[in-house]
Amino acid sequence: MPTHTPHLTLRRHTPEASKDIADDLIAVYAEVYNTPPYAGDPFFAVPTYINRLHAAFGMPGYETVTAHLDDGTLAGYVHGVTLDPERAWWASLGDARPVEVVKAAERGEVFWLRELMVLPQHGNQGIGRRLHDEMVTGRTEPWTTLTCIIDNEPARSAYPRWGYEVIGRIKHAPESPEYDAMILRPAA
Ligand SMILES: CC(C)(COP(=O)(O)OP(=O)(O)OC[C@H]1O[C@@H](n2cnc3c(N)ncnc32)[C@H](O)[C@@H]1OP(=O)(O)O)[C@@H](O)C(=O)NCCC(=O)NCCS
Repeated sequence: MPTHTPHLTLRRHTPEASKDIADDLIAVYAEVYNTPPYAGDPFFAVPTYINRLHAAFGMPGYETVTAHLDDGTLAGYVHGVTLDPERAWWASLGDARPVEVVKAAERGEVFWLRELMVLPQHGNQGIGRRLHDEMVTGRTEPWTTLTCIIDNEPARSAYPRWGYEVIGRIKHAPESPEYDAMILRPAA
């Protein structure tokens, strides 16, 4: 458990405002993912991410939350969209999904948290958790889902501690690694 989270300015960004800071978002990604096992894997290459990010800007419900330190450093961010119930990875889970969340997705009531990242030099200080909580509590969708590479620590172990349930395994593309798909039920 982090003992001291630095003072942060958390800001929510619409798709338009996110486009304006796209270069900053991409720079953080490049730093966070420039490490084994991602470095050198085309699925995690920066140009691939740029395409994914710009495609995400156009999806319904897109939003970014950024965390800035007092010196102005963008220490990390989270982004996501309203889950499209026809999304291939989600549909591939079939009956592994609780019926209530399938129905919620059909009503547009599931948030898909797509990316959460914090610069390594600012890790393990509670920034990731703050970003996550700010994003999820500010969304209108009562449910959240995300996918996490099965051996991606510390994220994979943190999500169940934050209340997530693993509901199955998926791939985002034939060339992607395996991910655990998780859901976070509506707050009581
Ligand atoms: C996952 C990530 C966003 C977490 O950011 P962070 O700022 O370190 O997060 P926090 O400090 O809030 O820590 C989150 C949890 O992980 C634990 N943790 C963080 N760094 C750790 C480390 N080096 N060793 C052990 N545990 C660690 C914390 O104890 C905390 O657990 P808790 O919430 O149960 O108390 C960050 O590690 C990251 O950017 N990873 C690379 C990108 C990635 O994997 N994103 C997630 C994709 S699904």
